Amino acid sequence: MSNGWGVHSPNMNEAPGNPVQLIVAAPAAAMGALHQAFAGDARFQIIATATSEDDLAAKLHLGPEALMLDATVFQGPDTMANMLAGFQGVAYVVLPDGVPMEAVEAVQNIPSVKQVVFYSQANFPLMAGQLYDAVIAIRKVAISAHGGNPAFAMFQRSAVRMAGFRAISVWNPKGGVGKSTVAIALAMEAANRNLPTLLAGLGGPDPNPLILGLKSEPNFNNWRMNPTPEGLKTSIQKLDILDVLAGFPDPVSLQSYAAETGVNEPESLVGFMHAATLAGYAVVVLDVSAQELAPMAIAASNTLILVSSPNMDGVLGTIEGVRVVNDVLAGQHSIGKGAMHLVVNRYRNATYTPKEVLQMGMNMRQDFPPLLAAIPDDPAIEEAINNRRPAYQYSEPLRQAVQRMGDALFAPMPTRSQERQQATGRKKRVINLGFMRLRI
Ligand SMILES: Nc1ncnc2c1ncn2[C@@H]1O[C@H](COP(=O)(O)OP(=O)(O)OP(=O)(O)O)[C@@H](O)[C@H]1O
Ligand SMILES: [Mg+2]
Repeated sequence: MSNGWGVHSPNMNEAPGNPVQLIVAAPAAAMGALHQAFAGDARFQIIATATSEDDLAAKLHLGPEALMLDATVFQGPDTMANMLAGFQGVAYVVLPDGVPMEAVEAVQNIPSVKQVVFYSQANFPLMAGQLYDAVIAIRKVAISAHGGNPAFAMFQRSAVRMAGFRAISVWNPKGGVGKSTVAIALAMEAANRNLPTLLAGLGGPDPNPLILGLKSEPNFNNWRMNPTPEGLKTSIQKLDILDVLAGFPDPVSLQSYAAETGVNEPESLVGFMHAATLAGYAVVVLDVSAQELAPMAIAASNTLILVSSPNMDGVLGTIEGVRVVNDVLAGQHSIGKGAMHLVVNRYRNATYTPKEVLQMGMNMRQDFPPLLAAIPDDPAIEEAINNRRPAYQYSEPLRQAVQRMGDALFAPMPTRSQERQQATGRKKRVINLGFMRLRI
């Protein structure tokens, strides 16, 4: 079913009851017992097994939600701590009896390690239940942080793995207001901050490849034909440190994609974001130039930037954008209250000031977004774009504005252990059970 905005109703039955994606790692001799404990359990999907440290390192990029680890697969607690440093999910660890207490403690201090037990004490069915509950608890936090819509559980599972993942739509229902200028500059800013960043142009034809000196192929149609992380990798072009997916080469391919793609299909923009997280991106910027794709882009994003020109037309266009997101598409996206932002572009003496744009907007709608940044009219921007150069490198005001946006959007997130400490006001509790201690 699709409404006037071309949006397909998401399938509300796809509740977040998907199996927990697990990697089991153990030396080959010990693998059998661990694997067996989870293989027949429908609550888990074993996405990989690993029998050595290198093997596990290579498979962690699959993005498991949980790890079941035999600690002896690692050379020692230090290499284990290093490898798990960036892991956002839940790890359970079993140790051979007789491992000294210092080593047990070192393992317990790894933030993602939820429980450590000796083999002789291990009750695998009990552990499976605890591990499952721990992952579900994290999923629930991620879902509530993304607006509580179970239809986007697939995407939100990715968000669990990358707590700081930003899926940013740059949009306005009005044309020519600076969406592409802002989207390109913001993506460059993110890449300059060493965040693995992907810029995707959603236009047809998409002018970004021309502006950026890239080719029109491969492009979004290549991703559409192979909607997997691998398909994404082979569809992108590199612009120095920024990865770019060229948009549709013509209006026909864009129209066919917009008309035929349901929001939960792998080739949808929700699927695109999922693939992007699996491919390792931390930031994806969608330049939403084609209005037909706006609803799907919004459904796939957790952050929205509305670019407004500094006049009545701009305010009305932005009001229309807010209405679409908060009224028409209510419940169909994960853009929370604080995740919608206003960027006023091209202000000069004769126009409204950015503050005036904000005030007029707030007079018309209480949920008008706060001002994230403002960009003055700068001839260097037009000149750079006309000469097919990234305006980001030639306009100081543009660079300053996206830097401000970057400070707000890409500030490092607290780690889970820091959050947990803040929430409880204390460190994880350690229960002493004789020679074995559990941290809960
Ligand atoms: N702050 C600015 N100062 C001067 N020129 C600007 C500024 N921002 C954008 N421009 C110019 O305005 C034109 C339109 O900008 P842009 O292509 O970014 O808009 P858009 O919203 O993506 O348009 P479309 O709806 O066609 O996709 C560009 O040629 C660009 O050079
Ligand atoms: Mg554009």
